[in-house]
Amino acid sequence: MKIGVLGTGMVGVTISNKLLEKSHSVKMGSRTSENEKAIEWLLGAEKNASAGTFEDAAKFGELLIVCTKGENTVEALQQAGTENLKGKIILDVSNPLDFSQGSPAFLIPTLSNTNSVGEEVQKAFPDAKIVKTLNTMWCGIMVNPASLGAGEHNVFMSGNDAEAKLMAKKFLNVNFDWKPDNIIDLGDITTSRGTEAFLPLWLRIWGAIGTGAFNIKIVK
Ligand SMILES: NC(=O)c1ccc[n+]([C@@H]2O[C@H](COP(=O)([O-])OP(=O)(O)OC[C@H]3O[C@@H](n4cnc5c(N)ncnc54)[C@H](OP(=O)(O)O)[C@@H]3O)[C@@H](O)[C@H]2O)c1
Repeated sequence: MKIGVLGTGMVGVTISNKLLEKSHSVKMGSRTSENEKAIEWLLGAEKNASAGTFEDAAKFGELLIVCTKGENTVEALQQAGTENLKGKIILDVSNPLDFSQGSPAFLIPTLSNTNSVGEEVQKAFPDAKIVKTLNTMWCGIMVNPASLGAGEHNVFMSGNDAEAKLMAKKFLNVNFDWKPDNIIDLGDITTSRGTEAFLPLWLRIWGAIGTGAFNIKIVK
């Protein structure tokens, strides 16, 4: 499958590498076509890897994964071009964190509590199918859940389009080995408010236990 990954940070690189391993073709996008981090990734990447602008990646991808800073996610997708998003599933991994005052970061007020990045993206691009997912864990766990507790922990999903969420569930299962029973569909895109709001707690747990390699397990 041709996949556009928008974002050159740790998440973009980790997800892109895993998708290449699974024999997908990946184009990594950023604000410029000569982004240093994208070029560095490309030099070390397997075949079927390419890089370009957000627009190039969005045009290329049959499915898109957006891993940009949460405050810039809508802007990055605007740069990608509305027409290149139309009808496509977009997995949104971003969180509205403000690191301007150092760590731990806090939630950006206009994008939290009664709002979320997921909702803002769906509002801005009504013809795209946004599925918020994977944003509640460190990227090493996103693509390798089995590295922790035999993979028996949870990932969440929020989105308005039921079919898109089913596709996303299959995608997470086939490519990242998430067990279907451990993928929890929380409901429509407004449920992103909950998963994005987990981040301040995530950061405090990280601070307390000294590792980002942990996850949530729902016990009933
Ligand atoms: N790190 C993790 O393990 C983790 C886990 C869960 C969720 N997340 C979320 O995933 C997202 C990516 O995290 P990350 O640590 O990989 O990278 P990041 O440093 O948070 O974001 C990097 C990306 O944001 C883009 N960006 C920055 N300013 C921009 C602007 N003004 N307009 C458009 N795009 C802009 C950058 O574009 P350029 O390439 O052009 O510079 C780059 O591709 C974040 O929202 C984060 O909260 C991260």
